[in-house]
Parts: sequence; C-alpha cells; structure tokens
Amino acid sequence: MLNKIKETADFLKAAQKTQPKTGIILGTGLGGLVKEIVMEKTIPYNEIPHFPLSTVEGHQGKLIFGTIKGTPVMAMQGRFHYYEGYNMKEVTFPVRVMQQMGISNLVVSNASGGLNPDFKVGDIMVIDDHINMFGDHPLIGKNHKELGPRFPDMSEPYSKELIARAHAIAQKHQIELKQGVYVGTSGPTFETPAEYKFFRVIGGDAVGMSTVPEVIVARHAGITCFGVSIITDSGVPGQIVEISHEEVQEVAAKAEPLMTRVIAELVATL
Ligand code: HPA
Repeated sequence: MLNKIKETADFLKAAQKTQPKTGIILGTGLGGLVKEIVMEKTIPYNEIPHFPLSTVEGHQGKLIFGTIKGTPVMAMQGRFHYYEGYNMKEVTFPVRVMQQMGISNLVVSNASGGLNPDFKVGDIMVIDDHINMFGDHPLIGKNHKELGPRFPDMSEPYSKELIARAHAIAQKHQIELKQGVYVGTSGPTFETPAEYKFFRVIGGDAVGMSTVPEVIVARHAGITCFGVSIITDSGVPGQIVEISHEEVQEVAAKAEPLMTRVIAELVATL
C-alpha cells in the first residue's frame, strides 16, 4: 500500500504545478464549489494510477487542482463510498495520497438525514464530531508508523478553530449554520424509523453514508479537518417520509449556493 500511495502522489506531483495545502472532498450535489476553483489541471480518476473508479450517480470522478480565492487546493469531485463495494482502504486511499502530497487541511461535505428535531430539511450543519457506525474501520490491520500512530487520538476530529471561522463567515453573510454530531453508516439503505431513533438516542444530530472513514484517516495522518452536511431529509419521528437519492440531490442543490459561499471563504483563510 505504501508504494501505491507514493506512486500516485508522485504521478500527481509531476502532473501539475500547484502545491496544494488544502484537500477538498465534494459530496452529493455539492459540486457547485467547483465553480469557485480557478482551475489549473483536471485529472479524471481513470487516468490516475491506483485510483478506484467512482460509480454512483451524481458523482463525476475527477481530481481538480487550482486555487480558491488564492488558496491552492486539490479537490475530489466524486468520492468512493463503502456501499459501492470498496473496502475501507480503497475509500480512504485518496486521503493517503493527499497526506503524501503534503496536504495539511481537509474540507469535506456530504448530505445527511436530520435526527435533531431543531433541524429543518435544507439546513446546513457544521460537523463538530462523529460516531463511526460503519461496522468497519479504515485503520484496522498493520499500522505503518510513517503514516501515523497505532492508536490515534480523536479528541478533536473536527477543528474547533475552523468551526469558529465558519460561524464567523456565516454570521457576516447572515447564513444560518447548525452544528452537531454526524453518524456515519454503511448504507445503502436509508434508515428505518427505528434506526433513526437509535442514532438520535446515541447522540447523533444527522446520519449519512460517508465522511467518517476519510476523517479517521486524515486525523491519523495529522491533517486538520472541517466538515459540513446538508440536511436533505428528516429522520425525526412524525416527520419521516419516503425519500429517494434524487430528492436528496435536489435538496442538496438548493442549499448549495450558501454552503459554497461559506466554504469558499473558509478555504480562503487556509
Ligand atoms: N440517511 C443516510 N444517508 C443519507 C440520508 C439519510 O437519511 N440523507 C442523505 N444521506
């Protein structure tokens, strides 16, 4: 695995001139941030050695190098989900490549079901913590010391400093930001009413099918993380209705402009 990570990072270093310090993973329907990137080089995943291929609808697989308001970034348009059948090492391989390329900040976005009764569909939630309910873990197996410690600390999975900056930016633009705990599950089913209730009881504010593996690996790598989630449907008892992937994407697309503004300005501070 170490060789593969190095080969991929070497390929990407040679393919473009940006020296990105910030990695971005663009989630469901949140591709709008792409418009904020002054592009230097775009590389489809199928041209990158050892990169898995993205399969889910609504996710184009490309790595974009460029700048957002002057900050050099490396953005993944399309991520690898556990429910697609990739194992945890594959899901998090791009984060390892980011580590190898010298990335120090990771910004991730996703869509989720709301568990907190104070949240409305369309709300944007800053992730301040997570619960891993994937039933798997990306760091199981031999630990390579050069990648990080055997028993990584997880006391501040999402940077308090970046959360504070995001709130300041949102306040300036009168954008309402919620905050809470993201529960990560494998999917691909959305939750049953009993599962939503369970995830609320254990301390979740929102539930989704991504992000947790990538953030675990980023923290293992010493990368500072910031995450936001768009609440695309409700898992609150009495408000649960039938949902589809298309509806999730529609709601996410509506919240996209506000979310893009906050993230673009946040990235500018990095
Ligand atoms: N559950 C899990 N993942 C999701 C949801 C949900 O309700 N909405 C968007 N992604």
